[in-house]
Amino acid sequence: MKKRSSNNVFLIGYRGTGKSTVARLMAARLGWTWIDADEYLQKKYGTSIRGIFEQEGEAGFRDKEAAVLAELCEHEREVVATGGGVILRAENRARLRDAGKVVWLTADAATIWQRLQNDATTEERRPALTHEGGLTEIEKLLAKREPLYRRCADLSVSSVDRSPQQVAEEILTYLSQTETDG
Ligand code: S3P
Repeated sequence: MKKRSSNNVFLIGYRGTGKSTVARLMAARLGWTWIDADEYLQKKYGTSIRGIFEQEGEAGFRDKEAAVLAELCEHEREVVATGGGVILRAENRARLRDAGKVVWLTADAATIWQRLQNDATTEERRPALTHEGGLTEIEKLLAKREPLYRRCADLSVSSVDRSPQQVAEEILTYLSQTETDG
């Protein structure tokens, strides 16, 4: 699919890779807006992600996630923090690539597990995705998803042992270089 424009940035990556924090920092520097796709989804449907998983299962959530992404792709000059599983559907991957630059924030499973345990929003926003849960779930899903993140991304940036500011700076440098390169 041909790129329509590049005036959005989509941050993709597993839960706990810092997408929302980096999106906020980047938007402030660019003078753009930013949005957390999961928060938008919860407001739009008036219920928590955990509630959607409980009532409709993961498939119900994925349908809503795809509908929200389609809406957000119509925005301009926005940094979007996506949910960690948005890359699972080919339709979503094509949309992301069509509507802006896609940046993959990475971290190893142990780091992610630590961060999720320290995040007060995990309970509401991150229902278990397999019956295993915990570190095993992260390791398994990362192995499954990494090829999809890689296939979708224009750039990958590690978030391990680096501040969100450093991650944001690296992405901004990349964006200014690709603009110069045309
Ligand atoms: C999910 C990640 C979550 C949220 C939902 C499913 C996933 O988003 O969309 O719980 O499948 O990895 P974050 O990446 O913002 O935690």
